[in-house]
Amino acid sequence: MSTARFISLEGGEGVGKSTQLRALEAALRAAGKDVLTTREPGGSTGAEAIRSLLLGGDADRWSMRAEALLFAAARADHVEKTIKPALSEGRWVLSDRFLDSSLAYQGGAGGLEIEAVRALHRFGSNDFLPDRTLVLVLPEGQERARQRDGDASDRIGGRDIAYHAAVADAFASIAAAEPKRVRMVDASGSPEEVTRRLMTELAELL
Ligand code: TYD
Repeated sequence: MSTARFISLEGGEGVGKSTQLRALEAALRAAGKDVLTTREPGGSTGAEAIRSLLLGGDADRWSMRAEALLFAAARADHVEKTIKPALSEGRWVLSDRFLDSSLAYQGGAGGLEIEAVRALHRFGSNDFLPDRTLVLVLPEGQERARQRDGDASDRIGGRDIAYHAAVADAFASIAAAEPKRVRMVDASGSPEEVTRRLMTELAELL
């Protein structure tokens, strides 16, 4: 049996991430992998409790620094209670968002700097990283009507267009800085084509 791998799926709002998460899970199962699908913020009891603190309430509920610390705390619990135990049982772990969301949303777009947020991850989770991070990106001007109901209503998804543009720029610089781990994947075209592209980026790990 091949080594269990930890994969994260990332992307801004409206790139079809939820659809691709399900499709990727199915494709990995079809390839014979035992897959645990999880999400951030959340994925463990403690982290799910922090999720409601992070996504609910008024826009100014947390300062950007407090927000980054809460994400890092949620992630520390998720890694320790869910991700590492599953990997040690030989299961693949597929996470809907992980560290790179914090680097992009709080670091790049939130103005804290990517390196400062990475330092929180070093402290919180010993810099534990995915084997591969897939970032779904739509070519400029092709963003789908960003807000299905619900997306815009959480504290972070509802931030303005400039913030979400900065998130996209940050994902691009993260991918440029860590080309081995982080791969940008074109999210345009049919869902099936996009899933094939994602699987191509995982081929060497299968
Ligand atoms: P969610 O409803 O899970 O949205 P999505 O379908 O976009 O993944 O909400 C998660 C929100 O939290 C999303 O707007 C991205 C944001 N987020 C951060 O800002 N930093 C992080 O570290 C993570 C994991 C998520």
